[in-house]
Amino acid sequence: MSATRGLEGIVATTSSVSSIIDSTLTYQGYEIDDLADHASFEEVIFLLWNGRLPKEAELNELKGQLAEHAAIPNEVIEQMKSYPLKDIHPMAALRTAISSLGLYDEDADVMEESANRLKALKLQAKIPTIVTAFSRLREGKDPIAPKKDLSFAANFLYMLKGEDPDEISVDAFNKALVLHADHELNASTFTARVCVATLSDVYSGITAAIGALKGPLHGGANEAVMKMLTEIDTVENVEPFVRKAIDNKEKIMGFGHRVYKNGDPRAKHLKEMSKRLTEITGEKKWYEMSVKIDEIFTAEKGILPNVDFYSASVYHSLGIDHDLFTPIFAVSRTSGWLAHILEQYSNNRLIRPRAEYNGPNKQVYIPLEKR
Ligand code: CMC
Repeated sequence: MSATRGLEGIVATTSSVSSIIDSTLTYQGYEIDDLADHASFEEVIFLLWNGRLPKEAELNELKGQLAEHAAIPNEVIEQMKSYPLKDIHPMAALRTAISSLGLYDEDADVMEESANRLKALKLQAKIPTIVTAFSRLREGKDPIAPKKDLSFAANFLYMLKGEDPDEISVDAFNKALVLHADHELNASTFTARVCVATLSDVYSGITAAIGALKGPLHGGANEAVMKMLTEIDTVENVEPFVRKAIDNKEKIMGFGHRVYKNGDPRAKHLKEMSKRLTEITGEKKWYEMSVKIDEIFTAEKGILPNVDFYSASVYHSLGIDHDLFTPIFAVSRTSGWLAHILEQYSNNRLIRPRAEYNGPNKQVYIPLEKR
């Protein structure tokens, strides 16, 4: 029995939710490029949960249900007010609030498929409300209730800023949500599946997944990219920064991927969006710095940008606080996590791998006073 570090290359389950084959990402067989160019995030939610695109009436029904369930219990808002708002990361707040949400759902532990699908709907509807409520509370403002007539993407921006967003921002945000929605058996999705394979509840699965996404090697990378860009500050500073990082064998966040070695198919969409949005905001330096980092690092190391690299300058250009980048990833990826959770329940077996033991052997207990 020998271990594979980081489970690299191990096929741990079957799934029809999404695939990465020959560097092409598909959701239920639809290529990500096609979906990024044409689909609304609501259509993608339906696709991931049902295995097909919705008809118009089905899409309208889903939009209505998401609007219906978007409000969060007052108890959760009151609890959020008691968090040390100024000192905590929004991902820690989100993890706690999602866990807490389960306390106020009397069907949290009902395991019938219909009950689990309803919980999926509620979680998907409520997660943007939680993220935006936290953001406003820490600014000393009141949370804003979602509007029933806005799209998922528009509602997020509206609840965050308190004003109706412009069309360009909504389109960009919708596309970012579509691009992040699912990604085969990434670390957080695997975490969610492991959790619910014990027949634990949906809220536990999403809470566990948020914990996994939070780390800088996974979802936390987008915030780390913006931190790096802010530190570099000018296009002229890029070259010395990157060369120093290479010499010191430091990681550049937003580059590399366990599965894609020839480039992440989502990155080009975000690169294009970054170019467009930074032109609009008049802050082209974020895009130009990113491109220069990309050129130098790719040429020197042959390691290409992943989804997190250009998403940093995209979200920054949308006027979003840098520490909300990873929670936004969670808002989108919840759709994929939920699809995987429902799939896991539908054909469940406990996930319990083995470890190759490399500790000491034949130890003999020594009484405390003799140690
Ligand atoms: N900067 C510098 N070197 C890197 C990077 C990077 N970003 N990524 C990989 N490498 C090097 C690494 O040092 C190692 O070199 P060596 O063989 O000489 O020790 C080699 O490439 C293989 O790297 P690894 O870390 O063993 O690869 P992995 O498959 O275990 O990790 C990864 C994949 C994404 C964790 C890694 O590429 C990384 O840490 N990237 C930076 C963090 C990041 O951007 N994460 C977001 C991932 S994509 C979106 C998501 O899922 O959230």
